[in-house]
Amino acid sequence: MKIAGLLSFAALITLFVVSCGDNKSKEDAPPFAASGTAAASAPSGEDLYKRACASCHMAGGDGIANVNPPLAKSDYLADKEKTILQVIKGSSGEIVVNGKTYNNTMPPQQLNDEEVAAVLTYVYTNMGNSGGAVTASEVAAVRAK
Ligand code: HEC
Repeated sequence: MKIAGLLSFAALITLFVVSCGDNKSKEDAPPFAASGTAAASAPSGEDLYKRACASCHMAGGDGIANVNPPLAKSDYLADKEKTILQVIKGSSGEIVVNGKTYNNTMPPQQLNDEEVAAVLTYVYTNMGNSGGAVTASEVAAVRAK
């Protein structure tokens, strides 16, 4: 009787541990699956921005005074082609944004056409900017020049 009780207690513990393990792996799995699916179809511009741009341009796009120019309300964005080129090729030297001169280096971003389109769409439709969406074919056209 006592042993049977112990056994079923052990079985319960095992069940608990197994189901916890299961939950944990389910919790771990979605981000990978989700980003995998996202990358295959439409990458999230916000995620890309956080990953590829926010370290220099800051989460809200305000940049860093005298070091990295802002993307928030940036007049530079008015020229879509120049903006796409900036992301693909990066730049070095003087650049004027909202009347302020910056002189630094932005490395070319290793992003494919869909990713550049997604991240720029995010920038153009957030941070106080009012541009529209950027499409992958627009990026491809600029890249081909
Ligand atoms: C390593 C830091 C760094 C990263 C990462 C970076 N930038 Fe930049 N970015 C800069 C700097 C510095 C300049 C100005 C370069 C110069 O002086 O020629 C700049 C300029 C720009 C400009 C033109 C000026 C303006 O502020 O409007 C745009 C647009 C831009 N970056 C977008 C992006 C986007 C989008 C990403 C992410 C895909 C990104 N940058 C990633 C540092 C960075």
